[in-house]
Amino acid sequence: MKILKAKTAGFCFGVDRAVKLTYQLAEEGHKVATLGPLIHNPQCVADLESKGVVTAAGLEDVPDGYEVVIRSHGVGADVYSAIAEKGLVLHDATCPFVAKIHRIAKRASDEGKTLLVAGDKTHPEVQGIVGHTKGEVFVFADLDELKAWQGPKNGQNGIIVVAQTTFQVTKWLECTNFIKKDYTNAEIFDTICNATWTRQQEAEDLSRKCDLMVVIGGHHSSNTQKLVKVAEKHTKAVTVETAKELRPEWFEGVDTVAVTAGASTPSSIIEEVLNSMSEEIREEMSFAEMFAESEA
Ligand code: F3S
Repeated sequence: MKILKAKTAGFCFGVDRAVKLTYQLAEEGHKVATLGPLIHNPQCVADLESKGVVTAAGLEDVPDGYEVVIRSHGVGADVYSAIAEKGLVLHDATCPFVAKIHRIAKRASDEGKTLLVAGDKTHPEVQGIVGHTKGEVFVFADLDELKAWQGPKNGQNGIIVVAQTTFQVTKWLECTNFIKKDYTNAEIFDTICNATWTRQQEAEDLSRKCDLMVVIGGHHSSNTQKLVKVAEKHTKAVTVETAKELRPEWFEGVDTVAVTAGASTPSSIIEEVLNSMSEEIREEMSFAEMFAESEA
């Protein structure tokens, strides 16, 4: 059995930046609280907590004397105001690509335009984006939801369209093609992150070459779940948070397995999964197969 590993697997730029900043603050002795789990990876969050970093659900949960870290997903304008009002020290790890969407959202509001956001309305990144406009906003998860929208037609103040950075590329194209036909005055900003796009592309390419795709990432990580959806179009795909979740039966009859990982997956976990997969494979192979493999 062959194992193909995606080159793009693991931390993206924004997550890497947020994780490094938080570890550095903890090492320097700062007492810090992150607003929500720093990344969608429980193992990494637990490690940070063992170093004294507190995960606060909201500003009201930040213990006295603690500084605040805003994670890469970003937050709405009201959270910045509340931090300033409370006089808290702020370390802003909002990914610069997300901060750019905040500026676009604010412009929509300043210009009285409607903001359309392609994304998951329950995701903190989308809630943060929505929190930077005071005007009309509509969040849609797919073309069906967009079609159901009874929004302003041409001749109104105008429409600005953005996407959650991890939105699925194929869905975005479907939706923007529709918008271009129905709302000719719409300004469309493709804010899907390059890291997401290349990761999804590579997952799709690899999924065509394998019998099984193992996606490593948090079960609550949206970009991990999107990789699974992309891979499922062409092959069987499974998701694991750690090596312990690998099941031997998944590998039965599989010739080629491909491995990729979400943007919040530390390289140590990817290595661990790859190592235990090779052990699993070795155990499953007969002596004859192992001999054939070593001859190859
Ligand atoms: Fe930023 Fe893209 Fe990662 S938006 S947080 S670099 S997926």
